[in-house]
Amino acid sequence: MYVIGQEEIDALARVVQSRALFRYGIGRECERFETRYAAYLGTKHFSLAASGSYALTAAMIAHGLGPGDEVLVPAHTYMASATSVLAAGAIPVIVDVNESLTIDPAALDLAIGPKTRAVIAVHMWGTACDMDSIMEIARRRGLLVIEDACQGVGGGYKGRKLGSIGDIGAFSFNFYKNMTAGEGGGVATNNDAIASRVNCAIDPCHAFWTGRADDAMPFAGYGARVSEFTGAILNVQLDRIDGMIAAMRRERDWILREIKNADNLGFKPAPLNSADSDCATHVFLTMPSAETATAFTKAFPNVIAGKTGRHTYTEWDQVLMGAGAAHPLMNPYSMPANEKCRRAYSRDMCAKSLDILNRTILIPTHPEHTENEIENIIHNIKTAAAVALGQVSYHEASMRDMGLLDKVKYDMKEEVG
Ligand SMILES: Cc1ncc(COP(=O)(O)O)c(C=O)c1O
Repeated sequence: MYVIGQEEIDALARVVQSRALFRYGIGRECERFETRYAAYLGTKHFSLAASGSYALTAAMIAHGLGPGDEVLVPAHTYMASATSVLAAGAIPVIVDVNESLTIDPAALDLAIGPKTRAVIAVHMWGTACDMDSIMEIARRRGLLVIEDACQGVGGGYKGRKLGSIGDIGAFSFNFYKNMTAGEGGGVATNNDAIASRVNCAIDPCHAFWTGRADDAMPFAGYGARVSEFTGAILNVQLDRIDGMIAAMRRERDWILREIKNADNLGFKPAPLNSADSDCATHVFLTMPSAETATAFTKAFPNVIAGKTGRHTYTEWDQVLMGAGAAHPLMNPYSMPANEKCRRAYSRDMCAKSLDILNRTILIPTHPEHTENEIENIIHNIKTAAAVALGQVSYHEASMRDMGLLDKVKYDMKEEVG
């Protein structure tokens, strides 16, 4: 959660007062949000769902992905990107990321096998994937592109909104995301038939509630409908998002300008695929080694990308264990249709990613950071880098106190999931 205030309280109170808590035929908030957010993204359809995890699965189900199919996922993403593939009955195949912390297009090209049907491009930590390269490879090799824009809400790639560039986009509005309703998610597509299937996946009774005959054949979906509270709060959050992203981009660019001038320090900002359009929720610093990254974070407490505890494939227990479903007969890892899919994982299978992740530091920005706080962050980055690279001793370094309020913001951002 970045910014939340009286406007959200008022919006929720209005829903309670109206007693219109159900979205179909009673309330109007969800429908209003779906229309507004689709226009914001520049897509024809947007459908709210209960979570980003289910939005991803609904996107895959809608495109007919399932048993017999491999879906490429990056080695660094929240576990749901991979488990959502399993929930659709398909098999996730793990692919290296590069220094941008997003899927490496060269590794993606090499990873495509005879059973591969799709790739999930995850816009991790608010930065954009290299969408031009990913789309070129996907079109050339006949893959579907599913954008996981759960961490990329409000951001873009070369002027187009994240989640609107591939064949389908999935979003999260959980507590840690750029726009939040506490929980929530949704799917964006330009394709009418796919949108019908997405709606059926989210709510098998969608056609009944809306009174619209769906184009697609109905099927048993899971049930991930949201209440009017979700729509109401997101309508307010949508009014805030552009201002928040602009403030974070100003902060990120200011810090990057200052770091560029400190080129004698021996570390570098990670490459960005679309600095003008992305969310800028973090500054990424690439250190020369895991040891220097650890020393940096000892001086200036921040998170190392490889040490968040759950964003790297080595922490995806269910995937590594082959526990693809609750019921053994529904486990994609043991389905005969998946026999020819690649299902072997090992902890060191993406060693290149692990090396990059263990030396990349994530420094969060915040829309409410003051100029003074940003100056302190810049000071701390330079000082911590000097300590980490042995130019100043830990005891000589004078770090600036970020203050209690800032610490609270940091704690919350560290949890970004
Ligand atoms: C990259 C990514 N994908 C998927 C998800 C799943 O979203 P949710 O937590 O709303 O299910 C998250 C969020 O936690 C995420 O960060």
